[in-house]
Amino acid sequence: MKTSGQSESGSALWAGRFSERTDSLASEFNASVDVDRVMALEDIEGSIAHARMLAEQGILEEEEARRIVEGLGELREEVQEGRFEWSAEDEDVHMNLERALTRRIGPAGGKLHTARSRNDQVATDLRLWLKAASRDVTAGLHVLRGVLVDLAERHLGVIMPGYTHLQVAQPVLFSHHLLAYFEMLSRDQHRFEQALPRLDVCPLGAGALAGTGFAIDRHRTAELLGFREPARNSLDAVSDRDFALEFLFNVSVAVMHLSRLSEELIVWSSAEFGFVTLPDSHTTGSSIMPQKKNPDVCELIRAKTGRVSGQLLGLLMVMKGLPLAYNKDMQEDKECVFDAARTLQTILRLYSDMLPRMVIHEARMRQAAQVAFFNATDLADYLTAKGLPFREAHAVVGRLVARCSGEGIALEDLPLSELQAACAHIERDVYEALSLDSVVAARSSYGGTARAEVERQIEEARKCLVGS
Ligand code: ARG
Repeated sequence: MKTSGQSESGSALWAGRFSERTDSLASEFNASVDVDRVMALEDIEGSIAHARMLAEQGILEEEEARRIVEGLGELREEVQEGRFEWSAEDEDVHMNLERALTRRIGPAGGKLHTARSRNDQVATDLRLWLKAASRDVTAGLHVLRGVLVDLAERHLGVIMPGYTHLQVAQPVLFSHHLLAYFEMLSRDQHRFEQALPRLDVCPLGAGALAGTGFAIDRHRTAELLGFREPARNSLDAVSDRDFALEFLFNVSVAVMHLSRLSEELIVWSSAEFGFVTLPDSHTTGSSIMPQKKNPDVCELIRAKTGRVSGQLLGLLMVMKGLPLAYNKDMQEDKECVFDAARTLQTILRLYSDMLPRMVIHEARMRQAAQVAFFNATDLADYLTAKGLPFREAHAVVGRLVARCSGEGIALEDLPLSELQAACAHIERDVYEALSLDSVVAARSSYGGTARAEVERQIEEARKCLVGS
């Protein structure tokens, strides 16, 4: 790519009033083509729609429009095949393509920019790009949600410790835990879907900021590009980037959710936990410690969360306090959006491939679930069911826990006589109530961890996957 000075094919497309050439560093600083060429296909689609509309409105001759559309079609092939020669001298994707078109078809190419500006053009391109990216991310989320439900179904019955404060709290089904992530990702997918109608608005024809005197048909351009409607206010159309911010927010939340899964996988795959073994395909070794198997992919996903949230805040800061309408500051809107989208797309693929290959250590999870008074709440619940107010039951069990932890024994290790001395309501059936399986089976409230409830959640999840 050429990088300094003005284009060999002449001065910049806007250079009419300039007598001096742009300083080469300033020109490099100003250029965005390295970033915005990602939207080349969207830019070409936008131009084709614009040219067709101009011809339909009698603003361009049919023949001129035909040559423009044909020329743009050829440029599309060049871009798709990686043959297009991008030049930083032509600043951005729009001027690169316009210059190449004129070079190819002659002066008719110069008519394409009638009744439009790069300001409405860039906003249109970015919206088109984000519509496609949102659909892609939505599909990726759908796949990963399916993977989670498959895993939940495959490992139904596996009991693991549930935590609060990363302290063992109450046992849960591993499947129940996985389905919690299914719920998070379902909301994430829904957020992208809900944002679509706001994204689906066409700025083209807003011109630089004030509209145009040419008799264009903005509804037609919107229709040709598959947008729901044209933007209602030309100033707003070229100057807001809330749709990009919304996308970044939605990516940030999804990646944040996946960072929590990452953290759990990192902890679960440690020797101390030993709940899962991550597949070789998604872990790495150490250059010095031959025994190591590091969860690098999970760690990087955890880290990318900081970067993506930073991009959201970064663009918020770029937009803060900008006067209407377009300002060059807004050129900084794309790099963060492209990077965030690519990051989420990659993470979704990585987890969809990795999770089914993970080995689950059922016995180890079960063993870990049985430590540290996992059934203390259940003893309190047992006493409450026998008529004791819960607060009193809590105090009774608290005292028993203190006593047992002093002796290094579990609640169910206490003989019945001692339990009865603590509370006369206790009967022999208490031991059954305190067993690991009973404790899990007992939590049969809607959304709870009892097997039948989790089975119902799996069934609901399957239905939900068919629906969206
Ligand atoms: N490359 C520019 C951007 O991404 C396109 C719009 C330029 N408009 C202008 N008036 N300089 O924002």
